[in-house]
Amino acid sequence: MKIIADRQTLNHWMNGCAKEGERVGFVPTMGALHAGHLSLVREARKQCRRTIVSIFVNPTQFGPGEDFGHYPRTFEADRDLLEKAGCDAIFLPEVETIYPPGGQTVVAVEPLGSQLCGAARPGHFQGVATVVMILFNLVRPQVAYFGLKDYQQYTLIRQMVRDLAMPLEVVGVPTVRERDGLALSSRNRYLTEAERLQASALFRAMNRAQDHYRKGESDPRQLEQSAREVLLESGIDRIDYVAVREAETLQERECIETPPVILIAVRVGKARLIDNMVLSLY
Ligand code: PAJ
Repeated sequence: MKIIADRQTLNHWMNGCAKEGERVGFVPTMGALHAGHLSLVREARKQCRRTIVSIFVNPTQFGPGEDFGHYPRTFEADRDLLEKAGCDAIFLPEVETIYPPGGQTVVAVEPLGSQLCGAARPGHFQGVATVVMILFNLVRPQVAYFGLKDYQQYTLIRQMVRDLAMPLEVVGVPTVRERDGLALSSRNRYLTEAERLQASALFRAMNRAQDHYRKGESDPRQLEQSAREVLLESGIDRIDYVAVREAETLQERECIETPPVILIAVRVGKARLIDNMVLSLY
């Protein structure tokens, strides 16, 4: 497995793949890898001849007072996991490699980028869209893999790729969960034991909404309310949002026609937890 830090070496590696006609799958990450990230790698390996993973804790997507400085950095463990997972290359750039001095251009996907998590984290999605655009241009993969865990991020990247006619395919990979339903996240390590127990309420809340949807409830506000009750019953009262939206575009609807997605963001202890579930009738 090759570890690549600079643009020139990355170019050289990618040109080698192109010369052989190899399809390259790309998994962008911020490291602190867990089984969720590895399921993206597995999917890439299934569909592509070569797999490259980037590890870059992107400063521009963290707001002031967020956890940029404390974000877990576990490179040795990440490298071992990726080696075992059969990844071909890691792109591990420095900040200046991604953002050379003098840059002026950003990517804004609006209004989607200011809604939901974008409302609580101003500038976050502009940072995400910009870094993903730069990574796509440096790596030039045929396919890129994103977790449905970050559903708004996935939707926004698809929108960007469509709007800017970018020549690659975006694939969404289902969320990997713990036994009690908690979505794996690098931020779960911020939870104490008691908070960790509390956090399982997110999955129960989404399932409550799912049950109501199956029983015929089609008012998004009622579905949101049923999920919100489960959170409150479990003592989670710092709720950023509980939102039922159209699953393709994340637009708000008065009444549900196609299967919607429920999205939740809450604060538990020091962690901000997000999760979502596309509701289905069967
Ligand atoms: P990061 O949080 O490291 O996540 C990298 C990828 O792993 C994302 O596509 C995310 O949705 C996916 N992922 C995380 N937890 C998952 C889980 N439990 N199941 C399935 N997939 C999961 O998302 C980012 O980094 C950054 O914003 C990035 C896109 C790299 C841009 O900086």
